[in-house]
Amino acid sequence: MTRKYKNIVFLTGAGISAESGLSTFRSEDGLWNKHRVEDVATIEAFYRNPDYVHEFYNEMRPEFLAAQPNPAHKAITTLQQKYPAKISVVTQNVDTLHEKAGNQNVYHIHGQINQIVCLNCGHVFETWGEVSSEDVCEQCGAHAMLKPNIVFFGEGLLCMDEVDRLLQTCDLFISVGTSGVVYPAAGFVQIAKMFGADTYEFNMEKTSNNRLFDEHIYGPAGTTLPEFVKKMLEEE
Ligand code: OAD
Repeated sequence: MTRKYKNIVFLTGAGISAESGLSTFRSEDGLWNKHRVEDVATIEAFYRNPDYVHEFYNEMRPEFLAAQPNPAHKAITTLQQKYPAKISVVTQNVDTLHEKAGNQNVYHIHGQINQIVCLNCGHVFETWGEVSSEDVCEQCGAHAMLKPNIVFFGEGLLCMDEVDRLLQTCDLFISVGTSGVVYPAAGFVQIAKMFGADTYEFNMEKTSNNRLFDEHIYGPAGTTLPEFVKKMLEEE
């Protein structure tokens, strides 16, 4: 590390939550090897069979509610508390482990499992309980319009105006535990790099957009990220 950073952006994916016991998507025993994306994570699937989609996320909620943050999530909190920079977390994860670990400035670009959105009025509310197509919006009273506030394939990402600003102004971009195959998030490193940021990747293995990163740190993020944060704080 040769200079101090002023604006740091973390981009996180399912790999940062793997050591908290939550499945990733594309590993051998990952979610997308057990379920078809076309059945549970596209907007077409939701319109075709909303109850099937609700059931999928209803079953996931208790597991996500019980999950606890691991040392990788906590390392981000430590950095935010001790390193004098603006530090933001852009996450593709729909779990709430960043918040449980005390992370600040968290942007859920793929939504949150504990939120529901009304497709009629846009009202977003929180629940860890079950939701069905029979439920009525608490805000506008519309029937059969509630959808998990999770960005399905075919929908636009959330918070993108702010995230674009962060990517264009950061001087350090750190990707943790994402395979880099789902766009637009997979392209964030390129934007940050074009605007001058140093780019680091933490993963278990080489990823498909590997060459866009200046540095690669391989291994479980629960070990590698706390070590990296410790080093950053020592060198500061
Ligand atoms: P993936 O399952 O595609 O990738 C997880 C990545 O984490 C892989 O590259 C693993 O090598 C890495 N990994 C696993 N365990 C790790 C650990 N302990 N430490 C560090 N890295 C580890 O998950 P995402 O990239 O998050 O979208 O997937 C992107 C999006 O695809 C998800 O947000 C989801 C999915 O469709 C929605 O649900 C909207």
